[in-house]
Amino acid sequence: QPVRLSDYRVPDYLVDAVALDISLDRTATRVRSTLRLRPNPEGVAGAPLDLDGDELVATALRLDGAALDLALATPDRLTIAAPPAGPFVLEVETVIDPTANTKLMGLYRSGSAYCTQCEAEGFRRITYYLDRPDVLSVFTTRIEAERDDAPVLLGNGNPVEAGAVEGTGRHYAVWHDPHPKPSYLFAVVSGRLDALRGEFTTSEGRRVALAIWVEPGKVGQAGYALDALKRSMRWDEDAFGRAYDLDVFNVVAVSDFNMGAMENKGLNVFNDKYVLASPELATDADYAGIETVIAHEYFHNWTGNRITCRDWFQLSLKEGLTVFRDQEFSADQRSRPVKRIADVRVLRARQFAEDGGPMAHSVRPDSYSEINNFYTATIYEKGAEIIRMVRTLVGPDAFARGLQHYFDRFDGTAATVEDFLGCFAEASGRDLAPFFRWYVQAGTPRVTARTHHDAATRTLTLDLAQDTAPTPGQGEKLPFVVPLRFGLVLPDGAEQPVRTGEDDGLSDAELANDTIELATATRRIRFEDVEPGTIPSLLRDFSAPVRLVTDATDADLLTLMTHDTDAFNRWDAAQTVLSRLIIARVRDGGGDPEALRTVFAAVVRTGRHDPAFAAQVLALPSEGELAREIGRDVDPDAVHAAREAVRGAVGRMLAAEFRAVIAEGAAAGPYAPDAAGAGRRAFRNAALSLLAAGDPALGAAQARAQFDGADNMTDRVAALAVLSLIPGEAREAAFAAFYERHAAEPLVIDKWFALQASIPERSTVDRVRRLLGHPAFTLGVPNRVYALLGAFGANPTEFNRPDGAGYDLVADAVVTLDGRNPQVAARLLGAFRSWRLLEPGRRALAEAALKRIAAGPDLSADVREITSRSLG
Ligand code: ARG
Ligand code: ZN
Repeated sequence: QPVRLSDYRVPDYLVDAVALDISLDRTATRVRSTLRLRPNPEGVAGAPLDLDGDELVATALRLDGAALDLALATPDRLTIAAPPAGPFVLEVETVIDPTANTKLMGLYRSGSAYCTQCEAEGFRRITYYLDRPDVLSVFTTRIEAERDDAPVLLGNGNPVEAGAVEGTGRHYAVWHDPHPKPSYLFAVVSGRLDALRGEFTTSEGRRVALAIWVEPGKVGQAGYALDALKRSMRWDEDAFGRAYDLDVFNVVAVSDFNMGAMENKGLNVFNDKYVLASPELATDADYAGIETVIAHEYFHNWTGNRITCRDWFQLSLKEGLTVFRDQEFSADQRSRPVKRIADVRVLRARQFAEDGGPMAHSVRPDSYSEINNFYTATIYEKGAEIIRMVRTLVGPDAFARGLQHYFDRFDGTAATVEDFLGCFAEASGRDLAPFFRWYVQAGTPRVTARTHHDAATRTLTLDLAQDTAPTPGQGEKLPFVVPLRFGLVLPDGAEQPVRTGEDDGLSDAELANDTIELATATRRIRFEDVEPGTIPSLLRDFSAPVRLVTDATDADLLTLMTHDTDAFNRWDAAQTVLSRLIIARVRDGGGDPEALRTVFAAVVRTGRHDPAFAAQVLALPSEGELAREIGRDVDPDAVHAAREAVRGAVGRMLAAEFRAVIAEGAAAGPYAPDAAGAGRRAFRNAALSLLAAGDPALGAAQARAQFDGADNMTDRVAALAVLSLIPGEAREAAFAAFYERHAAEPLVIDKWFALQASIPERSTVDRVRRLLGHPAFTLGVPNRVYALLGAFGANPTEFNRPDGAGYDLVADAVVTLDGRNPQVAARLLGAFRSWRLLEPGRRALAEAALKRIAAGPDLSADVREITSRSLG
């Protein structure tokens, strides 16, 4: 049943053109598809034509004008045993019910609109087709609908004509997309929508009409998305030489969407949380998310659409590369080091967890049962890290040439990861075959570094070793090529010049790039003429997605934290010190933050000129990260208690400094969602959070004042988050006030649900069960589900309650949801990804809950694959 990469064969038929005629109706939409087909000269001659379907009903079939027996079509397949040996025309009519489509794949209703989601395999829920990414065709789409019900008719490509359907209340529009594309990039949107319009002139002189489409009354919240779109278009021209290639670019925000957004050619469809924003309703993090996702989907126009994937095993070819591109864009728009730190936090929290758990898979997997389960942090975020490593290894110039080469050579094709990497091998003259292991081996490598300084010879010996734990189905791991950016830091912070000896030296290229290439299981490097006390700063800018274990003492780390020229490593040194401290507490109640007083006071001082960075230092490692660091028999209650104790101690130790930060911040001017303002707010809110951890009564008072006085959502919700941790009437009153104020805004109510589901108290499970019955909650909208149940699943202590009630709550929800929307159900199951790290009692309860789900009747392929891998 699983699909295997090794089974890939080219298609036996090609589609030269597709003409679709879609007559929209809420429950009976008629789709007429006319396919110009011909045998693929590279395929099997005389092979049957096998078109994919999914829950389809065919109402008419014609081959070269002659009617075919409808019995050739089953809900999931249309087979023509002996098609003509030359070109032929197949006409297929299907009738589908968008209102009944609760899976949100294919054509469905969202609010007052019709919309589609076809990636990965949704097009086959609209009509029978060769629904695979290596079949590219030119699409022309006629859309017809009731004019009153659906005044807006949007398709891919450029608009061709539009008009009334004589004698009816209906109208139509025809769209033509000149760029051949696979079916997963197809889209239509229709309904009552308002547009915020704009214009962009490309470097090639093309004038592009831009529009952000939203529910009526919400254009006032689309301005930031439009601005981000224009900046993205300009940046892709400047940074990568990529210009837009159609006369229109439409973005539509819908409130029912399984994932973040979708890059359909010329017609991106978004989860509305990545479009809508105003200072009163959206946080700084929401604005940053909009900027990133708008850029991401736009950048797909080249990396994904112009060059697409040969098969879904190559998904990271477009997703990893496009994440890399959006990360670079955001880094250029904001603070580069702070963006890097934020990205690494996400990578460690989500991808390292995935790599260390039962769902571990390589960036290019070799089999899957349900492709929708592979839109993962590994494919996306680790995929982006691999591309970042390519740039580090071949250098920026060869990287730019390689990418240019990729765009030139593979434009208009469906490519593979090998095609991509080959371009950089060619541009750099380097053999990248060993590097390719990053795509095929799963797991996070551990790199250990041991140092020895010999005073007599003034040599510093650095012994590096790498090893990667087995992952499901991959027992043996070969060494990875790990680029380690580095420097040698003198005790006073100056940079020790790097010189290595004849033996155990670095190559000229390594020296020129300040990068050690660790490509073997172990490697010794000898640095010469090194001052005593010199500290290696390794993995600067997080140059590889590895877990680095060093023999640096706490004192060394505090030196790096204060002096390292690499901002990422300054931050990471602080994280390591904090993580050691908390874990010491978990183990034996030890660990005294007092030693950190001076350096942390200094961090708070630097917050005056780099508040965003200081805020990142003040955000302690998450409970999930700490659990993974502990590695086995984890008691989440103990981790939480230790982390809170350290937060409290830091809060008391620096109370005066934090109060000053809060007081100064209160005087900052009016809200603007720019990086500088966001940094100031993040810093002040980090100070508030720690102050409250140290002194809940004082913290509650400060937070309530901020909650009441805030002129923006960032500060209001940060205050509510602080209040949410302090049991009592004040908290409940704040939640009630917040609900009252924002009841009409579902995206804001999502924050209200999520904060309540995140409370680390035993009563939370009952609160969440109660909220499942709240009138604002529905299992039908993915955002609501992720807000309440997704947040609960990410609540370390309450999901992992010692009595198993947290597991049962999520398991019940998964079972209920599976019948309605399997993708959302499968995503909720992600809560169980680290269950094997738990202490035996919880582990047994989590396993029992997974088994209970797995034993259910009629499981979707999505949920079945995750439970069976998890229980594996
Ligand atoms: N290609 C989209 C993006 O990352 C993701 C769409 C995934 N949707 C799905 N149902 N699997 O931009
Ligand atoms: Zn993407």
